[in-house]
Amino acid sequence: MQVVIAEVGELARRGADAVERVLRERTDPVLGLATGSSPLPIYDELVRRHTEEGLSFALARAFLLDEYVGLPAEHPERYRHVIERELESRVDLDPERVQGPDGLAEDLAGACARYEDAIAAAGGVDVQILGIGTDGHIAFNEPGSSFASRTRVMPLTRQTREDNARYFDGDVEAVPARALTQGLGTIMAAGQIVLIAQGSGKAEAVHQMVEGAVSAMWPATILQHHPDVTVLLDEDAAGKLQLADHFREVVAAEGR
Ligand code: PGA
Repeated sequence: MQVVIAEVGELARRGADAVERVLRERTDPVLGLATGSSPLPIYDELVRRHTEEGLSFALARAFLLDEYVGLPAEHPERYRHVIERELESRVDLDPERVQGPDGLAEDLAGACARYEDAIAAAGGVDVQILGIGTDGHIAFNEPGSSFASRTRVMPLTRQTREDNARYFDGDVEAVPARALTQGLGTIMAAGQIVLIAQGSGKAEAVHQMVEGAVSAMWPATILQHHPDVTVLLDEDAAGKLQLADHFREVVAAEGR
């Protein structure tokens, strides 16, 4: 893992650099997009590059990590709407080429299988943007998730529903109890992974992910087995890292 501890503007630039490289170098670029608050600085920087520097998403396909089960089609917190608001509508990303798992399908297992097929048919994800939950989840793979899991239905923990209540007027009961999520096996198949975390609430999960034993209790620890992961942290999220000074020295030696 490459761990970068910096102020949020620098984190956003590094995340956007990874996406820009894929957009420029691939003839058929495939982006993996996360929702939630963590990646928003990266999306804002990508929008700036689109507007000011002509960075184009026209050839890209994009796949979302997850989607709530059962939120009405028009609900603003459906992740398909969130990504439309936060990125797709602000760049030249073709809505037809952006896909999430169908949380309104009657046959949820069938929807999950179709989603896996769609990612495979696109040639797999080139660069996956990730956040991390306070309980160590990535996408909605809650503690106890199989490291081999593929897209499936996942019951959300109380902790996750409480964390996300801020998007539902503070009402925990309004947060759906289940979601469809890419599995840990699905995420691990991405060519490159960029995880961004801010704030002291993430510090324990980040410490476990980077320095803890690989364990289903902290699902993000699976990323220790991926060959190309960049972890972008602000000072607060890095607050429990024992190796923080080492990571700072490595980045300083890079000379950027
Ligand atoms: P957040 O969510 O970016 O809104 O903190 C991260 C996550 O739950 O994966």
